[in-house]
Amino acid sequence: MSIVEQAREGDILVLTIHNPPVNAFSPGVPEGLHAGLDAAEADGDVRAVVIIGGGRTFIAGADIKTFDLPREQAPDLRGFVTRLDAFAKPTVAAIHGTALGGGLEVALACTYRVVTADARLGLPEVKLGVLPGAGGTQRLPRVVGAQKALEMMLSGSPVGATEARTLGLVDEVVEGDLRAAAVEFARAHADARPLPRISERGVEGASPELFAAARAGLGKTHKGQYSPGLIVDLAEMAATKPFAEGWDAEAQLFMQAKDSPQSRALRHVFFAEREAGKVRGLGKDTPVGDVRQVGIIGAGTMGGGIAMNFLNVGLPVTIVETAQDALDRGLATIRRNYENSAKKGRLTGDDVEKRMGLLTPTLDMGALADADLIIEAVFENMEVKKAIFTRLDAVAKPGAILASNTSTLNVNEIAAVTARPEQVIGLHFFSPANVMKLLEIVRADKTSDTVLATSLAVARKIGKVGVVVGVCDGFVGNRMVHRYGDEARKLVEEGADPQAVDAAMHALGLPMGPFEMSDMAGLDIGYAIRQHQAGERGEPKPDGWLDRIVETGRKGQKTGGGIYDYGDDRRPRPNAKMGQLIADYRAEKGLTPREIGQDEITKRLAYSLVNEGAQILEEGIAQRAGDIDVIYLYGYGFPAYRGGPMGYASEQGLGNVAADLEKYGQTPAPLLRHLADEGKTFAAYDRETAKG
Ligand code: 3HC
Repeated sequence: MSIVEQAREGDILVLTIHNPPVNAFSPGVPEGLHAGLDAAEADGDVRAVVIIGGGRTFIAGADIKTFDLPREQAPDLRGFVTRLDAFAKPTVAAIHGTALGGGLEVALACTYRVVTADARLGLPEVKLGVLPGAGGTQRLPRVVGAQKALEMMLSGSPVGATEARTLGLVDEVVEGDLRAAAVEFARAHADARPLPRISERGVEGASPELFAAARAGLGKTHKGQYSPGLIVDLAEMAATKPFAEGWDAEAQLFMQAKDSPQSRALRHVFFAEREAGKVRGLGKDTPVGDVRQVGIIGAGTMGGGIAMNFLNVGLPVTIVETAQDALDRGLATIRRNYENSAKKGRLTGDDVEKRMGLLTPTLDMGALADADLIIEAVFENMEVKKAIFTRLDAVAKPGAILASNTSTLNVNEIAAVTARPEQVIGLHFFSPANVMKLLEIVRADKTSDTVLATSLAVARKIGKVGVVVGVCDGFVGNRMVHRYGDEARKLVEEGADPQAVDAAMHALGLPMGPFEMSDMAGLDIGYAIRQHQAGERGEPKPDGWLDRIVETGRKGQKTGGGIYDYGDDRRPRPNAKMGQLIADYRAEKGLTPREIGQDEITKRLAYSLVNEGAQILEEGIAQRAGDIDVIYLYGYGFPAYRGGPMGYASEQGLGNVAADLEKYGQTPAPLLRHLADEGKTFAAYDRETAKG
């Protein structure tokens, strides 16, 4: 079948695009559409043209994979849109699924738009670090007004059919067969002249104040990002300049945005997110188990947060504790969280009761006999976990998935106490577990494919981004953050202020620096780990400056202060006594402080993550560098427009990263060294290893 199929419905020519999965505007699509318009021009009996998508959607946008092609090889979306806008016969976009980016731009250049009731229309280019580049910045404001166009283009969020109709973005919402309705619509409007062209309209609701306010708001909504400012400039041009002028400016600024490191990073993230859901070697036909009943052991902060994920999607949860007061406290916290959401208008009172009604509290682990998935979320102690899994093995039904929410412990060891290690897996949620999108899915040596595939499906069902990782201390996220924390502490020993260290990470776009993160998590946690590890290794008790802070009783936000002080606003403020403690520490240890610039801090911290990430990759703990990036975006707030740590390193050039690591006294991991020597990126490594 041709990529664009031509079919006559009497006097109407229907052009159907067949470019699965999402009818992106790939090479071949413009050629096929031009051929369709040629045919419509040549045939005097054709009175109007309908453009429709075959399969699940209308055009979902430009083909993002072609963004790196030289201009002359890339599909000419603008050329097609120009011809469509000037076309002498009426054209109707028949939209189902999503009309996004270039897809909506094609539709806006048509004379009319008809849509199914579940269609969604939007310009999401900002999410890829670009801007609508085929007339969207100039046509959308002319249809929906300046304010709504800014809102749609800056958020990138689509609108539904009903809203699109109200906005005048579409002409008709169709019940029943879209193709037939579009043909009928085209026939009914075939003789209307002059043809209404959006490019000839003015922009409503524009004022200098509106654009000034939009620019002022970007610092909050799009801090550090490049393309949103260009979008506002172009929307203003739509309102103040002739169409042709805005159209030309858009082309130029689109190319600038497309070639920016931020857009490269965001495109990398787009594909990395989609790849992360795929497990190499796991067949597409792997059976996926049914999860209808969930059991959770532990009603503490983690257990309660985990339970909420399942209650939110209507799955019944049985939650087990060892003591009634702990169970009551856990339930009260869950209820309070829901009631807070209700107060903010995110849930109704009914929703709260419905969710609480799905929750069964119990002190009896035997009540988990019917659960399809059981997640243990008690404190990090191997002996306790082993005891729980031994008991679970006795009570859980055959086929139940037995999961541990451990963040550090060896899942193989936990699995080994059961007679069904193939049913055991790690499901590592991030705190607060009802909010954070990341789920590390820890595949143990004997975990079965079905358990893995079911866990991935569960992650999707509860709205998490599931990333499969292997067993090691801290898995991917925490193992890397551990190295990062060590480097941050060293920087302070050498002379940097904690504030300067955190500020460097803010400048990179992270919401928190390492010390703000430690204060939030609780300084006593890292302290306990360091003490424990030193004990295990028979080393003397650790005595770093951070250990000394903990020993003064300051454990972070939960005690009102740690490295920083916190008021009611929870904003960190330097504490003079802590500054003195650090200065005394350096003096006592004979460390002469030196000035450390932001560039050095940024490189040392970011590259410590990268170096550990490379090691993790080489050990096969992560399948792909892209998976590590996804973990850092969703678990640690690494900005997507930097591409995650591994994407960021590739953008800096791995040769430069390796040289900087050496300059600052770290040894590049062998894989990093190898890729640097070969002049490769982590993305290239991912592509090569995907081929096997
Ligand atoms: N280009 C290339 N590939 C695309 C694509 C695009 N625009 N959109 C989706 N795909 C691919 C995905 O990578 C995925 O491939 P895979 O199966 O090999 O992993 C496949 O299509 C299916 O995508 P999803 O897994 O995301 O499927 P969903 O059904 O969950 O979502 C969607 C469908 C809503 C269309 C979602 O894919 C999406 O949001 N796509 C991006 C849309 C977009 O950003 N469009 C604007 C592009 S930029 C542009 O148009 C510039 C212009 O202004 C000049």
